[in-house]
Amino acid sequence: MKTIAIAIDGPAGAGKSTIAKLIADKLHIYYLDTGAMYRAVALKVLREGLDPTNHQQVISILPSTHIGVIYQDGFQRVYLDGEDVTHLLRQPEVAKAASAVAVIPEVRIKLVELQRSIAQNYSVVIDGRDIGTFVLPNADKKFYLTATLEERARRRWLEMQEKGYDQSLEEVKRELEARDRNDMGRAFAPLRKAEDAILIDTTGKSIDQVVNEVWGYLTDISADGR
Ligand code: DC
Repeated sequence: MKTIAIAIDGPAGAGKSTIAKLIADKLHIYYLDTGAMYRAVALKVLREGLDPTNHQQVISILPSTHIGVIYQDGFQRVYLDGEDVTHLLRQPEVAKAASAVAVIPEVRIKLVELQRSIAQNYSVVIDGRDIGTFVLPNADKKFYLTATLEERARRRWLEMQEKGYDQSLEEVKRELEARDRNDMGRAFAPLRKAEDAILIDTTGKSIDQVVNEVWGYLTDISADGR
């Protein structure tokens, strides 16, 4: 059976994962969160006491690092060397380290291989930074979600508060700016809108509004492959 892939790229806090999950549910296909894979590598680097910005150090642990993705009750779980680390990946220090290790081409090549093989076997809504431009250039549909820095910071800050992380709005904003610089400024597969991606600015829009907008572009897509 032919699988379908819907790519959603954009900066942190643009609403990609929220929208991707809801669209995947509506289509009865999987949601593949590629950021979680970079976060898992970052977690390993931090656990080993290594510097995420030191390329040689990070590259040295890659051969012995196993990242696995499985679906349990429709939800993605990420395994690091056989351990389910899903619940550890949203911590602010892991996010920061993820953005640093994601600059390293060797890290990307390893994870892109895994992403492509999952997308080959399952129909997915897949979100990330380079999905439409690099991972799946032939995706059935591509979206680029964005929002102002202020709005993205506010959303991320609310999410952090709900999870019990005590960060100020200013701090969250500064970290987002730094991640944008890393994600857009790296040489290898940087974050940018694919030419054929549909641009959606989510600033000031509700989740329902954005889902409906995206859904409106998917009238020619039919899938049920979970
Ligand atoms: O989407 P996220 O916040 O979970 O992503 C964490 C970091 O991983 C982000 O700063 C950039 C990087 N990333 C990437 O470079 N390419 C992807 N496809 C997904 C994430």
